[in-house]
Amino acid sequence: MASMRILVLDTPADAARVAAAVVTDLVAQSPAAVLGFATGSSPQPLYRALAEKARNGVDFASITGFALDEYVGIDVGHPESYRSVLARDVVGPLGMAPLRMHVPDGLGERMLSGRAYENAMAAAGGVDLQILGIGANGHIGFNEPGSELDSRTRDVALAERTREDNKRFFDGDIDRVPSLAITQGIGTILEARELLLVANGAAKARAIATALESEPSASCPASVIRRHPDVTVVLDVQAASLLRQRENYRAQAETWLLRRLAPVR
Ligand code: F6R
Repeated sequence: MASMRILVLDTPADAARVAAAVVTDLVAQSPAAVLGFATGSSPQPLYRALAEKARNGVDFASITGFALDEYVGIDVGHPESYRSVLARDVVGPLGMAPLRMHVPDGLGERMLSGRAYENAMAAAGGVDLQILGIGANGHIGFNEPGSELDSRTRDVALAERTREDNKRFFDGDIDRVPSLAITQGIGTILEARELLLVANGAAKARAIATALESEPSASCPASVIRRHPDVTVVLDVQAASLLRQRENYRAQAETWLLRRLAPVR
């Protein structure tokens, strides 16, 4: 039976602390957990909150990481390759050995990269917790609208909207944004044992409302998370602003926080 917790917090920083608690609860239970890492701006407050936990003694050294996606055709040393971004925001701050972070190969033999990546994920035992953002057009990973719901890790063309949204990482110049990427497929993402989707800001409100309140469909790839048995969605009030039950979700977040912070008897 599907179970989805939707937690709405006042600010992105509050939301990040809750999302970080979801991650550290898992790592406390399973120090060698396999985590899937999204990039982009949505998870950055979460990664900062995890970095603070690492400074305060939480040990992430035994986790294994798998990136959700990578641009095709840009040098891995480019500051905006997802390998570079994850090295900067996750591997270093969390004290992981660099080889424990896997990133799809955006430069290698194109037919082989997707399969090799899936083999590496399987060899690691599969992903325990996949962190996801959401595109303004409803994409997850770089599975753009229209992607097959059972798709696997593969090369994809980025939607114009996505390239427009991501040009801020490339000096505001859309021509510098790669037009291809390699992404875990929707079917791949759904195989993670737990999903954690984070979204902040009004620009995500429409995509969040469609993803969480309409029937799962390829026109909004993020909507398929409703088919997964264990999902936590952590939003700030702006990203939640078009959800019909947003007040309930705020109350759920308060209950969740109270329960979690309650003294152990
Ligand atoms: C990136 C990824 C994408 C982003 C999405 C939102 O690894 O998987 O799905 O999560 O494009 O990006 P931001 O957070 O920058 O708005």
